[in-house]
Amino acid sequence: MRGMRSTAKQPEPLKRSEAMNLRQTVKTLWPYLMEFKGRVVLAVLALIAAKAATLLMPWALKEIIDALDTKVSTIIILPAALLLLYGGLRFASVFFGELRDALFGRVTEHAMRQIGLKVFKHLHSLELAFHLDRQTGGISRDIERGSNGLSFLLRFLMFNIVPTLFEILAVAIIFSLLFSPLYAVITVIAVGLYIFFTVTVTEWRNKFIREANQADNTTNSRAIDSLLNYETVKYFNNERYEADIYDGFLAQWEQARLKNRLSLLALNSGQALIIAAAITGLMWLAAAEVKQGNISLGELVMVNAYMIQLFLPLNFLGFVYREIRRALTDLENMLGLLNRQPAIADTADAKTLQLQQGTLQFQNVQFGYQPDRPILQGLSFSVPAGSKVAIVGASGAGKSTLARLLYRFYALNAGKIELDGQDISSITLDSLRRSIAIVPQDTVLFNSSIRDNIHYGNPEANAADIEQAINLAHLRGFIDSLPQGDATVVGERGLKVSGGEKQRIAIARAILKKSSILVFDEATSALDSSSEQAILQAMRDVARNHTSLVIAHRLSTITDADNIIVLKDGKLAEQGNHQQLIARQGEYARMWQLQQQQQD
Ligand SMILES: Nc1ncnc2c1ncn2[C@@H]1O[C@H](COP(=O)(O)OP(=O)(O)OP(=O)(O)O)[C@@H](O)[C@H]1O
Ligand SMILES: [Mg+2]
Repeated sequence: MRGMRSTAKQPEPLKRSEAMNLRQTVKTLWPYLMEFKGRVVLAVLALIAAKAATLLMPWALKEIIDALDTKVSTIIILPAALLLLYGGLRFASVFFGELRDALFGRVTEHAMRQIGLKVFKHLHSLELAFHLDRQTGGISRDIERGSNGLSFLLRFLMFNIVPTLFEILAVAIIFSLLFSPLYAVITVIAVGLYIFFTVTVTEWRNKFIREANQADNTTNSRAIDSLLNYETVKYFNNERYEADIYDGFLAQWEQARLKNRLSLLALNSGQALIIAAAITGLMWLAAAEVKQGNISLGELVMVNAYMIQLFLPLNFLGFVYREIRRALTDLENMLGLLNRQPAIADTADAKTLQLQQGTLQFQNVQFGYQPDRPILQGLSFSVPAGSKVAIVGASGAGKSTLARLLYRFYALNAGKIELDGQDISSITLDSLRRSIAIVPQDTVLFNSSIRDNIHYGNPEANAADIEQAINLAHLRGFIDSLPQGDATVVGERGLKVSGGEKQRIAIARAILKKSSILVFDEATSALDSSSEQAILQAMRDVARNHTSLVIAHRLSTITDADNIIVLKDGKLAEQGNHQQLIARQGEYARMWQLQQQQQD
């Protein structure tokens, strides 16, 4: 599956872009932090308390050792207070760390919620063409990665990088004050070297990590692809062939993992070497001074404890550095998505539709999905208020396209569509779409109950309205035959109900919307003749006093239309009612004859 996905077209705005710089990042994150000022302040206080406790621990250790050292102290009883203090500090350093996370969790989660909602709304505001070009899976991965990146940055920048820098500074100051500046210099140099080494090696390692991930992905998608095509593999006796290809990918993966591990070995051992060298140097200095009697044994242990404590958070530096870079890129991608302007949106001076009777007018409409392939080439016709107009024409003639244009899923290349004399491109999308109800050619249902799917047509409708819609759409018998009635769940995309049942649910949903203009796009194509007749009668009842546009292949379903538009080569070929068109002996009469013959 993933293999297929990667071949799909990826439109430009979501290309992997360069990571954002720090200033942009802070600018992006700042509003989310400011929303919970109180919590952020408390979290920072908890952070300071945790760091303070951590910094006091080696000192307490020193005091304990000195108290036990008979050369320094003559007290023989255990330094109980100090021991308790040490335990208390250890607990406090962990507890305040946890408290900080608990306090700050709300901030990151709320930020994730807000940005998630913003992206979701934005995606719904983008035009249909964008969604058809994109793979939904890809978008949801972008959202997920982006909001995870946001939370990672909020947590790590605030609670890992900055505090660690402060800790280094604090330790350097303590060393300078208690011993000599030389200790501080060695510490700072060691930390600097450590950071430099880690960042450089991590950069170098990145390509091995990417290779390993890539190999992992291709191996996986190959396996899935092969298993999805299980039948095909058997038909052609290709198990061996499949296994060989799969093993080839596995070998690449093995190789990539090997490089990955070796480079990790280089990173970790280099880091350990720097730490060991720094600690040895400092201990050397301290040991010499202990010998000279300048400092106590406890102080030597303290130096050691500080160094170990200091390098502990730095251990994760490689990981944190890599993750921050990744988070910045993911965030950038998500913001790129947010910055994409919808191609179809309300104009600044868009007005609410003033609906009167619902007269529709297509005037010289020209349109093509791609510039080099025109679909409609100057189509003009009108649908008088309250009338039923049918559109017929060959498959691919552009009938469903007309419905999409009416909904303004796409912009016209030329010409205009008017509703009660108002150009639909100058009225708000919401008021336009509210006034039209459609039964689309391919109905897709939500994976919820039949009732919920119908109710979706108008969330404000009451039970009686729903009941009426169910009856009009001839769904009663079907629903009553189900053990769970209208609570039956229809499955993903409605795949657990039959094509005809799905169409009837879609009809009920459109009836419930109670719009003045109705569009039926092959609304009964999946029904058997008797259900079709019943539904057509229901549709006639519903369509009374409504303007309706009916698209149909089966001409017998539209013989009662007030006007029939025959679409050919993107233009109106002929129009009139059934009798007139038959009498004309043109395109329509030919199609009619053909269909009549098939029925005989
Ligand atoms: N999003 C799209 N991008 C590019 N071409 C498209 C797109 N949607 C439809 N088309 C093309 O536009 C033409 C008209 O499509 P449309 O769906 O309007 O046909 P139709 O008249 O409803 O046909 P049918 O009777 O088979 O439903 C078709 O040739 C189709 O391939
Ligand atoms: Mg169609």
